[in-house]
Amino acid sequence: MLDSFNRNISYLRISVTDRCNLRCHYCMPECGIKLMDHRDILSFEEIERIARYGVANGIEKIRITGGEPLVRRGIVDLVKMLSQIKGIRDLAMTTNGTLLDQFAQPLKQAGLQRVNISLDTVDPFSYREITRSGDLSSAIRGIEAAREAGLSPIRINCVVHQSAMEKDAQGVARYCLQNNLQVRFIRKMDLEHGVFSRVIGGEGGNCAACNRIRLTANGKLKPCLFSNLEFDIRELGVEEAFARAIGLKPESGTVNKLNRFSNIGG
Ligand code: 5AD
Ligand code: SF4
Repeated sequence: MLDSFNRNISYLRISVTDRCNLRCHYCMPECGIKLMDHRDILSFEEIERIARYGVANGIEKIRITGGEPLVRRGIVDLVKMLSQIKGIRDLAMTTNGTLLDQFAQPLKQAGLQRVNISLDTVDPFSYREITRSGDLSSAIRGIEAAREAGLSPIRINCVVHQSAMEKDAQGVARYCLQNNLQVRFIRKMDLEHGVFSRVIGGEGGNCAACNRIRLTANGKLKPCLFSNLEFDIRELGVEEAFARAIGLKPESGTVNKLNRFSNIGG
């Protein structure tokens, strides 16, 4: 599907929940957020139908995100459903990794190809501070489990304040080098104030080359992370929501006052 700036939209990011088992300060306020109503959350059948429509119309790559996708009950079944869609070349997930110890193997068996794991520091105290509760060792165990399960390549996403030269980022870079992991640094963004940047070592944030479209956990199709535009699939139907989202995908991002990273999946 070509948008009006001749970009070929081939990448669908699906947020399956707005819940998370961590509280990273750049993503969620301490008191948590107003969570989506359970009945607004798309069922697996709805997600599958939307994904099938996308794939029949040019989507080749699907990434499952959150919140934290592994806290969605039955997530392995959803992966199984999605992996059976013919025409997906790349089926990936973005996760904080803390539950991968338990999930990596079943996910791989269900047909997940690879994972991006968020890791901003390898210092346990710093990790606890950044995530407001998390345990570094569970994330590290998760990374090991992903490797053992053969989810490959594993990419590490590291959020930095300004640059990859910061102490925590350097620690992550060293850990990744030692453990043969690819790492990408992402400058901390601010949706509401339109502060966005290109991913260092990745493809995100390059508007001219942007091939993505996003589905929120409550069924809104969003053409751009940094835009208020959204098209409700339940209201409009899949076909119309896709047509509008792609037809109106902005040339570049501005601000998004409606979403948080926790419900749109980074
Ligand atoms: N800025 C940049 N990236 C963010 N993420 C979440 N919040 C932000 C933010 N404010 C991304 C990170 C993280 C993933 C879960 O979402 O890449 O690893
Ligand atoms: Fe694409 Fe919007 Fe991100 Fe720009 S800001 S890269 S258009 S999703």
